[in-house]
Amino acid sequence: MCGIVGYIGTKKACPILINGLLKLEYRGYDSSGISTMENGYISNMKDKGRVKNLYALDGINDLIGTSGIAHTRWATHGKPSKENSHPHMDNSNTFSVVHNGIIENYQELRNVLEEKGYTFKSSTDTETIPNLIHMYYSKDKNYDEKRFLRAVASTCKDLKGSYAIEVLCKEYPDVVIVARKDSPLVIGTGDNENYIASDIPAILEYTKDFYLLNDGEVVEVYKDKINFYNCNLEKIEKDVKKIEWDATSSEKDGYPDYMLKEIYEQPRSVRETIGARLKNNEVVDFEDIHLTKEYLESVNKIYLVACGTAMHAGLAIKPMFERLCKIPVTVDIASEFRYREPLIDNKTLCIYISQSGETADTIAALKLSKMQGAKTIAISNVIGSSISREADYTIYTHAGPEIAVASTKAYTSQVTLLALLALHFAEILECSDKALIEAIKNELLLLPEKLQQVLENVTEIEEFAKKVYTEHDIFFLGRGNDYAVALEASLKLKEISYIHSDAYAAGELKHGPIALIENGITVVGIITDPVLSPKTVSNIQEVITRGAKTLIVTDQALENGNYDKVIKIPKTHPMISEILTVVPLQLFAYYITKEKGLDVDKPRNLAKSVTVE
Ligand code: AGP
Repeated sequence: MCGIVGYIGTKKACPILINGLLKLEYRGYDSSGISTMENGYISNMKDKGRVKNLYALDGINDLIGTSGIAHTRWATHGKPSKENSHPHMDNSNTFSVVHNGIIENYQELRNVLEEKGYTFKSSTDTETIPNLIHMYYSKDKNYDEKRFLRAVASTCKDLKGSYAIEVLCKEYPDVVIVARKDSPLVIGTGDNENYIASDIPAILEYTKDFYLLNDGEVVEVYKDKINFYNCNLEKIEKDVKKIEWDATSSEKDGYPDYMLKEIYEQPRSVRETIGARLKNNEVVDFEDIHLTKEYLESVNKIYLVACGTAMHAGLAIKPMFERLCKIPVTVDIASEFRYREPLIDNKTLCIYISQSGETADTIAALKLSKMQGAKTIAISNVIGSSISREADYTIYTHAGPEIAVASTKAYTSQVTLLALLALHFAEILECSDKALIEAIKNELLLLPEKLQQVLENVTEIEEFAKKVYTEHDIFFLGRGNDYAVALEASLKLKEISYIHSDAYAAGELKHGPIALIENGITVVGIITDPVLSPKTVSNIQEVITRGAKTLIVTDQALENGNYDKVIKIPKTHPMISEILTVVPLQLFAYYITKEKGLDVDKPRNLAKSVTVE
């Protein structure tokens, strides 16, 4: 939920840290702060609000230290304020700490520390960490070069919950110590300098060589060497990974907002998700998943588990999985799944969908299903994310960095990858009509071109958005896959425009929701299902007769139905229509939000990655 960044090298740390924070603001922007190792002391500057408030502070440009840590916050414990912002120092100002995560036993630790005479300035869970480090450090009378390391490692053993921390010690000015559990942390290594961050895009412009930390690891980061240890301080070796993203791909490429850039990247991201996995009429290639026909024939249930948009991707692909693989599929919300004691055994295949790979509820649900004997597959967009280290198998969407909080290209890549996975299973199981499989494959290969066509005809969407941006309620209707898209379109609209919105299975209108329809209200109808469309058309007519304004997204030639606006999209196979249908509605939400003058990339109250429950 927060973003942390660190640097140690030969350059001034402050500009590098500030630049990293600006790239991490999507993870939270209630407050921010920076500590650098100055001559014989640790500076600590922080303020409420966005990073721009931090680098406006008096004296920030006087920081000359060549190592430091920094933090941008999404408040979990303690309201957004200067005293609650990170970094936090111990009472003696010997240590400075930035932290991403939640320390669940912080109150207990705080009580122990207060009994020992420590005092606290903030109401955060994090402030216990520097004081705990100081307590262990003071007790350790072995004044060797590892005293700082031991104090941090002992502290980590006391922490329950999740943490990614960076620690400075004024008595060890040549090293930054970092550690993680259940919160992401990466180290980028350069020439006589090293970088630390919550995620890769924050420091990608400086290096392509990364170390991905695992839970429980503690690391000494010097400018010219990095020492990795496990939680018992046994040295471990780690391979460096070269990240192929280029730095600019994390920038806006000339678009006004990350969200618009990412919407327009979808022809490419879908093409790259398909990538080498699908060639004309050849078997879908998932070399990274080794599931046999015997195992798949033993599977009697598939769960698709996720949150938010990722869960909507599961809803959209469920019919295809069931139709092709002949296996019952249940789509579940991770925060519900993990607490309702789901029936899971070794005949259950659980597929977890997570763009960030860091969503706490999704990871917790995955751990639960593993404990109960299920095989687990993670679908993530972030290489080396936490979820990839928990799942039996991980397949990546290769959509490239998704920076906007509102997920767009990740959704279409997730649905594309899930469709390929369903085809892969169906080919192994040999349980589906080959002509159907070939038809879907051919249409998947045509998707990038068809997505481009949709993106070249956006004027009418923008015009209609400008007519309705002042509305207080907008409803979305659909049946089958169109209903799954209605749910996603409604989430997009509400999370960035703050307009109240709901999505209904069109057949449900008469069971209550139609009472909401009154003169002038806006209703969006999604009509692509070849079988169910006539019924949806009837439902739309019911709202029109009650005075609704209507926007229709369809791949069909509808008779004149008194619609206010009809957006025509190319046809594709009905089982993957959601990949095209969703795009005009992503733009609909985007244009409305821009018309309202809101920040489309960083909506209020939200963060890109929900790494806490
Ligand atoms: C999507 O627009 C939202 N930002 C949110 O619902 C998101 O999809 C959800 O938090 C899941 O995130 P994940 O895919 O990274 O797990």
